[in-house]
Amino acid sequence: MLVLGIETSCDETAAAVVDDDGRVLSDVVHSQVTVHAPYGGVVPELASRDHLTNAAPVVRAALDRAGLTLAGIDGIAVTCRPGLMGALLVGVEFAKGLAWASGKPIVGVDHLLGHLFAVYLDRSERIAGVAPVANAVIEPPFVALLASGGHTALYRVDALDAGQVRELGATRDDAAGEAFDKVSKLLGLGYPGGPIIDRLSEQGDADAIDVPLPMPRRDSPEFSFSGIKTSVARWVAEHGVPEDPAVIANLCAAFQRRVVDVLVKKTIFSARRERVSTIVLGGGMAANRELRRRMQDEGATREIRVVVPPLASCTDNAAMIAFSGLLRLRKGENDGDRISASPHTMLPRVTRKGAGRRGPT
Ligand code: KG4
Ligand code: ZN
Repeated sequence: MLVLGIETSCDETAAAVVDDDGRVLSDVVHSQVTVHAPYGGVVPELASRDHLTNAAPVVRAALDRAGLTLAGIDGIAVTCRPGLMGALLVGVEFAKGLAWASGKPIVGVDHLLGHLFAVYLDRSERIAGVAPVANAVIEPPFVALLASGGHTALYRVDALDAGQVRELGATRDDAAGEAFDKVSKLLGLGYPGGPIIDRLSEQGDADAIDVPLPMPRRDSPEFSFSGIKTSVARWVAEHGVPEDPAVIANLCAAFQRRVVDVLVKKTIFSARRERVSTIVLGGGMAANRELRRRMQDEGATREIRVVVPPLASCTDNAAMIAFSGLLRLRKGENDGDRISASPHTMLPRVTRKGAGRRGPT
């Protein structure tokens, strides 16, 4: 079975073809980074317009690279939630049009499930320079940390089925990647902030500057990143944006260390509490070198296996959407024209955003 995946939930227009075994036959990602960079964050209306321009050429490129036409695929999977409504609608309506015109079955996919199952994608023979991951031996249950610009949450995955995925805790405010982007903007470093702060931190000393950073509760799977960001903002308000690159690097290192600390401690805590021996990383922040290193080290001391999929599977892509859709399409499911876009995930949330009484700790 060959599935065409389409993803337009945020700031990437993506299309991919994946086969029955999760092998990635093509994977095209058009990033809107240059569109949003002047604003230091994603501008929803600009995102929708850019998807509109790029959806057709990106899908065509994905089919071409797989050596296929629409007639050669067996089903279509499209991200229908969660995300920016305008952006989602472009992909959903485009995909429905393709399904109608070709008479192929179509399913709507929850973007978060896409991320959570992306570890099963097999890119080994297709992408040069990326070491193969022995996916076959990754058996649920596992705990997944999903950390990106839009989401930060921990999940327990018992099987590759939406009903077998449980949110353990999420962020009450900013996503981890969002905090990187905001701190980067504050320091005038550019967008997206994650890769820049990651690089600068390598040269910095996390202990050199005393930024009073709030201590999180380590025994809760819920996150909060707005306090860390505010601490950096206060420091900048008091001292001004540092001109010395060494001071900038130290500030980045201090901030990054705290965010990574929180992500690692809470992920390990959750894996132990859930009594699972595998942790899977996903989302754009899985690119963070300190996070990968620290999670591997902390996991190793507790006999917990830490799996980091190839980066192309962690960041937003349509191969993960195709694979998630495939799981339903091969059971004969077809949403037809009943797919509608929603800004919310289908996964039950346990963490409420904002202040107030809390869910499980
Ligand atoms: O998953 P992704 O490509 O898109 C979504 O947000 O859904 O993630 C992008 C986010 C951005 O906030 C970016 O700053 C962050 O991931 N990011 C990183 C790194 N690379 C990307 N954060 C920390 N360290 C990195 N190396
Ligand atoms: Zn994402």
